[in-house]
Amino acid sequence: MTDEELLDAARTVREMAYTPYSNFRVGAAIIDEHGNVHVGCNVENAAYPQGSCAEAGAISAMIAAGGQRIVTIAVVGGTDSIRACTPCGGCRQRISEFADSDTRIVVKDNDDKWHAYSLAELLPSSFHF
Ligand code: THU
Repeated sequence: MTDEELLDAARTVREMAYTPYSNFRVGAAIIDEHGNVHVGCNVENAAYPQGSCAEAGAISAMIAAGGQRIVTIAVVGGTDSIRACTPCGGCRQRISEFADSDTRIVVKDNDDKWHAYSLAELLPSSFHF
């Protein structure tokens, strides 16, 4: 699967996001070590901290389906159009749990261009047991 195909999966699931409070819709799509794709979108809540990020949903779907490693994760977000949306700090740590040095995180950054980052670039010196 190409990055563009994975981004399309993230764009499609982003349409399902439940975001009555921020109106900021995010979609995430993962390819796992078996080549399977798992998607998630953000789901907000009237009690704001109870909302969940798109990456968390995609990771839950991966684990529930038997995947253990993130080969590539694509994340797309924005209010109307898709704009810069790199994973939040908490999601960088969530990704870290299932990443290795080859994991690619495909996102649009502040320069409005698509980038494939490593986790070491997005979360250097990360916490591990
Ligand atoms: N959000 C995500 O889904 N993933 C991120 O990495 C950043 C933020 C969501 C949470 C909230 O529903 C909305 O985007 C605005 O913060």
